[in-house]
Amino acid sequence: MNMKYVFVLVIAIAAIAEGAEYTVGDDMGWMVPPTPDYYASWVSKYYFVENDTLVFNFEQGIHDITVLTKEDFDACNMKNPLFQSPEPGEVMVMASDTFYFTCSFGQHCANGQKFAIYFASAPLPPSPSPCPSESATADQSTESRPFKFVSAKMGN
Ligand SMILES: *[C@@H]1O[C@H](CO)[C@@H](O)[C@H](O)[C@H]1NC(C)=O
Repeated sequence: MNMKYVFVLVIAIAAIAEGAEYTVGDDMGWMVPPTPDYYASWVSKYYFVENDTLVFNFEQGIHDITVLTKEDFDACNMKNPLFQSPEPGEVMVMASDTFYFTCSFGQHCANGQKFAIYFASAPLPPSPSPCPSESATADQSTESRPFKFVSAKMGN
């Protein structure tokens, strides 16, 4: 019985420190999807919060992870990626904003391997903050990337 409580506590601490982890596309992984709205439906299943991690499963060399501005995302223009990784693995998103993920290979973006995803600044339910002046880390450089490649997925 005590073990159960310890286990729950450990999980809770891990969730606070690192955020939740979501596997993009669930079992299908990251690929050109069977339907163009596949990844939009995947995104709509979850509620994402900053510091959550997206796990991208794909075969290296035939896909990548590319983050674009909305304009470039809409146009599938790969020339100015905000973030890019040729490796499958985990990307932690450390800001509250909407981000635009796609794959830069061939026509993959045009064929639906893309999704816009919003990361909220706080988990649901939104708890009213009794002490709004607590954090004074507002002066974030817009140059710093809110993406962190956490770890490459080990081959399986
Ligand atoms: C995300 O991590 C940063 C840095 O550790 C922290 O200041 C911020 O409160 C975290 N955000 C959430 C929603 O946990």
